[in-house]
Amino acid sequence: MDRRTFMSWVGLGFVATSLPVAIAACSSDTAESPTADAPADAPPPPPPGAPAREDGFVEVGTVADLDANGAIADKDFSAGPLSVFRDPANSEALIAVNATCAHQGCVADWSKDASLLICPCHGSKFNPDGSIDTGPVEKPLDVFEAKIDGEAVLVKA
Ligand code: FES
Repeated sequence: MDRRTFMSWVGLGFVATSLPVAIAACSSDTAESPTADAPADAPPPPPPGAPAREDGFVEVGTVADLDANGAIADKDFSAGPLSVFRDPANSEALIAVNATCAHQGCVADWSKDASLLICPCHGSKFNPDGSIDTGPVEKPLDVFEAKIDGEAVLVKA
């Protein structure tokens, strides 16, 4: 083995033995730092991927998404499956509803063609404001506070 080959093997061995230690050191720092200084009565952190806002709103999409699809749906929203629409009475305002059908708990899906939320289980239909279009459900959808901020669509859980 010549000197150059020997030095290559020594360098490769150093990297291979140092890398796990470096990764472990970085992982423990990032996992502990957010909770180490948090007061006991601090609000829970936002769900993964959700931008944090001091006013309690969560960004769920963009105005471009809303206008392209007629709605923004997020079945993983922290307070329940979410659907957001422009208010038919005021296009500058938004309406956000919890798409959980009160009949037996299925999640209603937005139909752009019908302009209604339709429950796949027993066919109840809801208007974008959460009111009932067709039963058997007898209770409208719950409503969340929603607004536009620049290009962002925001909902408060
Ligand atoms: Fe929605 Fe029955 S669960 S209509």
